[in-house]
Amino acid sequence: MKKLDSLILQYKKGECELITLFEEIVKSKKYLPFEKLNYLSKKLDIPLAKLYTTASFYSLIPTAKKGKYIIRVCNNLSCNLNGSETILEMLKKELKINLGETTKDGKFSLELTSCIGQCDSAPAMLINNKPYVKLDKTKVRKILRELK
Ligand code: FES
Repeated sequence: MKKLDSLILQYKKGECELITLFEEIVKSKKYLPFEKLNYLSKKLDIPLAKLYTTASFYSLIPTAKKGKYIIRVCNNLSCNLNGSETILEMLKKELKINLGETTKDGKFSLELTSCIGQCDSAPAMLINNKPYVKLDKTKVRKILRELK
């Protein structure tokens, strides 16, 4: 909380961005809980709805509790052309969840992401921000087995 309050002061002086405050909260909580958004709203005198809208724009700022492993499959052109849809369908089937959901054991969440800069090694995905590239069904099954 000390670090967050310090960042709030920096924000008020125009020395940091709102996203920096969100990232600080996500660093410790793994997501941006409503209570923290409410706290920021009061401290910054910014309407809660505006803060939520801003935070929810960024896919890397989760506004709800997620699984231990957040899988984000890239859905931009290069990955699409190289089979990201197949990878996504396979993940849904293996994990028995749909996009935006978390497995019952709280281990995996499944999301889409925009390009992650790995177009030359498509299809690609992130798991907790670590890139996995040149994906195929065998590789994805192996990755999931290692994380289970
Ligand atoms: S389009 Fe998927 S990494 Fe760039």
